[in-house]
Amino acid sequence: MKPREIKPGVYFVGAVDWDRRLFDSLIPLPDGTSYNSYLVKGSEKTALIDTVDPTMEQVLVNHLDELKIKSIDYVIANHAEQDHSGSIPGILERYPKAKLVCTPRCKGMLVDLLLVAEDRFVTVEDRETISLGDRTLEFIHAPWVHWPETMFTYLREDKIIFSCDFFGSHLATSNLYVTDEGQVYEAAKRYYSEIMMPFRTNVQKNLEKIKDYPIDIISPSHGPVYDKPEFIIKAHRDWAFCEPRNIVVLPYVSMHGSTRRMVTHIVEALAGRGVTVKQFDLTVTDLGKLAMALVDAATIIIATPTVHAGPHPAAAYAAFLANVVRANVKFASIIGSYGWGGKTVDQLVAMIPNLKVELLPTVIVKGYPREADFAALDDLAETIARKHKEHDFK
Ligand code: FEO
Repeated sequence: MKPREIKPGVYFVGAVDWDRRLFDSLIPLPDGTSYNSYLVKGSEKTALIDTVDPTMEQVLVNHLDELKIKSIDYVIANHAEQDHSGSIPGILERYPKAKLVCTPRCKGMLVDLLLVAEDRFVTVEDRETISLGDRTLEFIHAPWVHWPETMFTYLREDKIIFSCDFFGSHLATSNLYVTDEGQVYEAAKRYYSEIMMPFRTNVQKNLEKIKDYPIDIISPSHGPVYDKPEFIIKAHRDWAFCEPRNIVVLPYVSMHGSTRRMVTHIVEALAGRGVTVKQFDLTVTDLGKLAMALVDAATIIIATPTVHAGPHPAAAYAAFLANVVRANVKFASIIGSYGWGGKTVDQLVAMIPNLKVELLPTVIVKGYPREADFAALDDLAETIARKHKEHDFK
């Protein structure tokens, strides 16, 4: 695709990666992604904001050639992660007069990660500006969305914020702007859950920090550009500030049907009490969908058989994931079956120290569940429904 003009002299020059299916060798990308790079031409100077993943450097170079860009004065690095910074060395070599502009912390990381020469850098403090002539770039330090060095770049005259990963979505699309808000909402929520949720407090701070800036356009580092930014700002405010909802997330795995039978029972019991349940079979589930469900769930129940002396590895993975993304759940329980003993509950509880949860009664059954076990599951469902009501989770 060609470079896209956002405003006269402001272009999208990034790369759309339709085929990528995994990020960080971890995160599923069902809809591909994009690495957004932007060119801003002022009356006197030209800036390139972020680059692209090194696998697609040639796409960026082709875009700059198509726009006949003979010199770049500033390469702005909002973020040191390689999907945006990885082409910086090549761009600096191609444009030898360009200065690399970033936060002091980002400088250290770019030296470490990409071996950029120290004399190429100009570091900027929070709210510092650089003039391009008739255009001004203001740098807004925004640490921990989602690395410690991140910043936003605000183009004052055009009211465009280049927000690096913040507000991003892993979504390959031929459209420059959002055309389907429902689709982008889902992709952005998935992205938030995987990348930003562990830094919820910092997300809150950074939302507050930019709330007084007039913003007409949000240009993130992944996914389409927002020409109606209100919807994605509101979505992030909801995810970062709101109380959990009346939802139970139930990742489960079953080997011979006992745990599966317990899951069926408690899902019915919860649904009958007005609680929404999101059930995930861990042998096939998309972990991004599980992470997304954890954004606004109040309770997590992990259901697992005992394998040797502990939880099934798939259940351990789910517990570890919930812990890593620091889900905002308030209650947790563990249910499942065993054959001859083990330490499933102790081991799973030890895997979720980041979750600030009240641990509810567990229901661990020897063999196939019997009447008393179903009664215990009913009690657990009753407790969850009552706790959600007491906290007014809607
Ligand atoms: Fe898209 Fe944190 O890099």
